[in-house]
Amino acid sequence: MKKFAVLGYGTVGSGVVELFYKNRSKIEEKAGTQMELGYILDLRDFPDSPYAEKFTKSMDTILADAEISVVAECMGGVEPAFSYLMQCLQRGISVATSNKELIAQKGAELLAVANAHNCNCFFEASVGGAIPIIRPLHRCLAANSITEIYGILNGTTNYILNKMLTDGMTFEDALAKAQKHGYAEREPSADVDGHDACRKICILASLAFGKHVYPASVYTKGIREITLDDAAAADALKGAVKLIAMVRQLDDGRILPAVMPMFVPYTNMISRVDGVFNCVEVCGDAIDRAYFCGRGAGKLPTASAVMGDIIEAIKHNQTVFSQNWVDTGTQDFIAGVDELNCGMFIRFAQDADTVKSSQLISELLAEQSHNDIPVTAVKNAALIPAALTKQERNAVLDKLNAQGFEVSHWMPVMEA
Ligand code: HSE
Repeated sequence: MKKFAVLGYGTVGSGVVELFYKNRSKIEEKAGTQMELGYILDLRDFPDSPYAEKFTKSMDTILADAEISVVAECMGGVEPAFSYLMQCLQRGISVATSNKELIAQKGAELLAVANAHNCNCFFEASVGGAIPIIRPLHRCLAANSITEIYGILNGTTNYILNKMLTDGMTFEDALAKAQKHGYAEREPSADVDGHDACRKICILASLAFGKHVYPASVYTKGIREITLDDAAAADALKGAVKLIAMVRQLDDGRILPAVMPMFVPYTNMISRVDGVFNCVEVCGDAIDRAYFCGRGAGKLPTASAVMGDIIEAIKHNQTVFSQNWVDTGTQDFIAGVDELNCGMFIRFAQDADTVKSSQLISELLAEQSHNDIPVTAVKNAALIPAALTKQERNAVLDKLNAQGFEVSHWMPVMEA
């Protein structure tokens, strides 16, 4: 018999408890042992809960129980989650966490302590909700050199964009609905301003490239400035505006992580991922590319990933070494967003003559030695699918402005 505890009885924690009792016999079959939920840690009272006798307000009670072999952390935030998990790992108790803020800030420390005590710190639920991405990345794709990861990693913003664009809902109403569904973070700016997606790409980048990438090192821009006109213009140019989290390895070995709204052509399946769904594209030297899609947030989808980790922790009583990275003490292996070579989706401040604007852009590209690039334009926007350097992009934008095609803003274009 294996006993586990759940820390935090919010959306995800209550989902883990619900899922355990719903599918208990199947879960025990997969774990190869009978299981028991020993404790639920929460500072609030739940007198009417069917599990009322499981609740405790004291982490010490859980740590004092020598039968506890796995602790699932669903509290969110760095503290006290970090201290609690460190105490577990130092006692050789494996942990499973859905807490992306914690792993993005403290992953290297937690993994080092897990290694030192021959147990595991699992975090499948921290990225992509229900989607299996952590374990496939370090296990199934272990033979690859990873070159790029792109994805929609925040369900709330994808849901908001979708509701605004397809249902004509206001930003505020769409956010309120996301909160009602249990998708949104406690502090909505974590979703809307891109911080949640940033934490998740930090975790994927750290895992893929072996060095801890801290959120402060990642260029992060959210969706506040995206308008319905942007979306309509993108649609006319055969693409969708999505909040994309990315990391790319550069030729010199450094990596370039970033989070920002991007134009995603309809030829890329990520453009079609709507609502709360997330999608991660992983590119490797052996696989070319692989896509991982599913519900990126929500109670049972996220609980599914936590429960999977609990089962995994019960089955593997030794450290899984492929799931590791280290803090190198520097972030000098990270390139800034200015080094991103990419195409441009350009919005004009006023409607423009489409023939003249695309002709002018083609001439400007030719000046930059980018010949025969298929520039397309609609009355208030244009699309340049070439991989331009920052200097080339600035030269095109400056000259367009000088010629009377006032550019109000631009966003990067994701490859097809
Ligand atoms: N707020 C997050 C999201 C929850 O919307 O994706 C899942 O991490």
